[in-house]
Amino acid sequence: MLFSTRLPAVLAVLVTIFTVLANAYRPVQFVKHTGQSGRADQAFSLVNYYNTTTAQSDLYVRMWMFRYDSSNRGWAALGLGPQMKGALMFIIYGDPASNDLTMTVRTVDGHHPPRPLDEMKDFYSGDIPDVEVISTRFEPYTGDWYSEQLQAKPSHLGVAEFIVRGYEKFTAPALGIHSDSTKQSMIWSSNFKQDFEGDFSYERSIDMHQFGLGFGFLWVDLLNAKSEVPFFQTIDEVSDHSGLSEIGDPTAPSDEELKKGDAIIAAQLNPGTGDGAPDASGDKEASPPPTGSDSDTSTPGADDGSKVEEPVKTVKQWNIRSWMWHLHGLLLTLAFLLGYPSAIYLLRSPRTAAAGTAFNYHWTINALSSVSVSIGAIIGFLNSRSISIFHQYLGILIVCALAAQTVLGWRHHVVFVATGGRKTWMSAVHVWLGRAVLPLGMVNVILGLMLRRYGWLTISLCVALAVVEVVVLTLVVGQARNRRPGPMQKGGASAPPPADEAEEYFQLTGDDEDEDDDAFSDDEERAGASAEERAKKEGQREEQRKKLAKLDRV
Ligand SMILES: *[C@@H]1O[C@H](CO)[C@@H](O)[C@H](O)[C@H]1NC(C)=O
Repeated sequence: MLFSTRLPAVLAVLVTIFTVLANAYRPVQFVKHTGQSGRADQAFSLVNYYNTTTAQSDLYVRMWMFRYDSSNRGWAALGLGPQMKGALMFIIYGDPASNDLTMTVRTVDGHHPPRPLDEMKDFYSGDIPDVEVISTRFEPYTGDWYSEQLQAKPSHLGVAEFIVRGYEKFTAPALGIHSDSTKQSMIWSSNFKQDFEGDFSYERSIDMHQFGLGFGFLWVDLLNAKSEVPFFQTIDEVSDHSGLSEIGDPTAPSDEELKKGDAIIAAQLNPGTGDGAPDASGDKEASPPPTGSDSDTSTPGADDGSKVEEPVKTVKQWNIRSWMWHLHGLLLTLAFLLGYPSAIYLLRSPRTAAAGTAFNYHWTINALSSVSVSIGAIIGFLNSRSISIFHQYLGILIVCALAAQTVLGWRHHVVFVATGGRKTWMSAVHVWLGRAVLPLGMVNVILGLMLRRYGWLTISLCVALAVVEVVVLTLVVGQARNRRPGPMQKGGASAPPPADEAEEYFQLTGDDEDEDDDAFSDDEERAGASAEERAKKEGQREEQRKKLAKLDRV
């Protein structure tokens, strides 16, 4: 009798041992910071534990969300299932100030905000796993992550540790949860904006996730995440995902991963590290094992020793998004440090002026630069997860100004040709906008380099180049002004071109496109053309028209 009542337990132990032998443990962790192909700052780890008493699989979930600036906005979510509909979702939100973090278990019958399970009985009335919340809290952030986008470290870490007992029991339509799956479908999503207005209750309605990369799919190897000891797996946030994939089936565990897993399990089994009970302290720094095993690099609570040696840059950053940022920077640097300045220089240089090609150079190079800016700006916009920092605002302002510049320059030119050289209000605006926009663009290029954390040498060189360019352009434009006939002519700086050359220069470009480029003269507006000059212009209007029309066709 006695034996027979114990038989199931004995068998279960044997099964467990067999399972453990057959399935070495590979830790499962998901780590996503904004900037790592996603608009999220969250992480989680999973341990798949088979409780022999209840004969069901339990999931030990540790969820993290990173908070900047003590923000109490937004939420982070994780769901078991291939899509929102029917997924078993875990959502966390709260306020670091009051150390008030809520974990709520939800589902939904479609693609709208999920609701607590008991509100969804019309949709799903089957078995519901027991979710035992071990700990929810905020901690001051002490990790190594630095957000390039926000130029800050997180201020807080929101932590939830909970056990989903019998998670396979949840069998909502279109769902499939299997503890033996090597590719369990899951979803994640994030929102940084929702203002909970102080209401962090379990049934609090939540706003939609971020648009664009604020949610995603993943496939988790639950089979190899089986552990014969129940515990909450440490999250090593400077490492990448482990035991899961965002693009398809996870790869089979590597020897290295299994070795790491072995060490973690060994640490869990070591009496010195605890009694096998869930590591509820959860504090990754505060629970070092007291025994000699604390040198064990994989002990929950301690960082992997090999990782500690490595710079934070081991975080995989060379993804497509990262390349896109560099392309964005390259295009805008070319435009603002090369294109626009040379367009202005060539317009004002005596040689091109004399050759009558100045205006052509001016508009061609400016057009190319603007194409480069447009592409760069679109890349920047698409690559951004939110518009929230000064560099972005300034960039948008510059793009708007450049669009206006193009229209103003073109309209000014059309009017100029039609009227034979009359300036309009557009000319003046074009000039002033040009004066403002180039230096602002240069500043924003430098800000971008700083955001991307380029070395000080690169940044210093760019600053130096920008300064030199501004100085040279100011001088060149100043000299061009000095070449003008009339009382403003000053002796000296450069040999004034022959009179007819100068005439041509000023007729073609001096009165037309100089508008942009006075940008760099210290400029009093050429005090309204004298009557004499005006008369001269009248006289040459026909000639001008012909010339400009010719240029127009180029
Ligand atoms: C396994 O399930 C039993 C029955 O619910 C429970 O008392 C026990 O604590 C569980 N074991 C673990 C390690 O959670």
